[in-house]
Amino acid sequence: MSETTLNAETGALSEELRDSPFMRACRREPVPYTPVWLMRQAGRYMPEYREVRARHSFLELCKKPEVAAEVTVYAAHRLNVDAAIIFADILLIVEPMGLELEFAKGEGPVIHNPVRDARDVERLREVEDASALGYVYEAIRITRRELRPGIPLIGFAGAPFTLASYIIEGGGSKNYIHAKRLMHTDRGAWHALMALIARALSRYLNAQIVAGAQAVQLFDSWVGALSPDDYREFVLPHTRSVIENITPGVPVIYFGTGTASLLELMREAGGSVVGLDWRVPLDEGWRRLGDVAVMGNLDPALLYTTPDIIRRQAKKILEEAAGRPGHIFNLGHGIMPETPVENVVALVDAVHELSRKGAS
Ligand code: CP3
Repeated sequence: MSETTLNAETGALSEELRDSPFMRACRREPVPYTPVWLMRQAGRYMPEYREVRARHSFLELCKKPEVAAEVTVYAAHRLNVDAAIIFADILLIVEPMGLELEFAKGEGPVIHNPVRDARDVERLREVEDASALGYVYEAIRITRRELRPGIPLIGFAGAPFTLASYIIEGGGSKNYIHAKRLMHTDRGAWHALMALIARALSRYLNAQIVAGAQAVQLFDSWVGALSPDDYREFVLPHTRSVIENITPGVPVIYFGTGTASLLELMREAGGSVVGLDWRVPLDEGWRRLGDVAVMGNLDPALLYTTPDIIRRQAKKILEEAAGRPGHIFNLGHGIMPETPVENVVALVDAVHELSRKGAS
């Protein structure tokens, strides 16, 4: 195979990428060791990130492709993980919809003109070709060039429900009162909003794939707030539609938290990998999901303990996976801001060492 990682004309993967442990695990093929990467692996827990971040606002950082690429590549190489995830945010896509996004200091994301009723839904812009997010594709192209050639790059987006919750609430939320009220009082407006989001998402993710992402992840971080009935009626058709419209052959990871009562339904949404949080034992979650790859599921809070404890807990998860093809090691949610970097490195090393075939 040539030195280039991707064939620019055909978009075909190099052998090195195709046969990487991460891509093999997505396809549930045997691997020499369990691949591991960590959600939010590039972030504030890293001094090098804080240094870059001191010079730019968070949104600026996302919109400067060279810097976003540098942050992405640095984290992947520093941790020696088996996949990189492009540095961006699930909320960037709300801007081309006509929403005003701000990351307010200490408050997290704010949308200044949230959607509360049918009239607000009508004023949203259709994200026709997602070209407004060209800076993300450019960051992917640069990252693909700078990343070690055998390390796959994951593109991502928020899943329809989690995005709708921000769009309606105007920011983070505890009880999702506005979102649930719209869902139940104006089904037409709710489904119109979710369908608009879903169309934007498949275009956006497919453009990330064209730019050089080998797999994509949908973050449904807050979907655990829903009952199974509400998920089935108000969310499942839209998530399924996003996944169905992703470029064939590209693995889709569908991740959520608080999903213990939703796993079978999440499986119905499609996707080749389902992300589990730590509230469900990995073996039990996998049994319920059936024929699909799984990602997870160490409690990110454990990264505040010691390398010994982390190693023991990683071993437990690997034992639950029992060497079955199709396990990607990850946390059950993102790395938190003050996590000691050395503990993160210890986790990655432990997963590699303990899972290497022949290791006991
Ligand atoms: O995983 C990675 O390394 C890639 C980068 C990434 C970020 N956000 C960078 C980020 C990814 C995959 C995300 C996804 C994201 N963004 C999610 C889903 C994952 C999850 O954690 O549930 C959500 C819900 C968001 C929305 C969002 N973005 C919130 C709630 C916040 C504030 C959180 C906080 O801790 O302040 C952000 C900001 C954000 N996104 C930061 C980073 C590194 C911190 C920004 C900073 O530097 O101040």
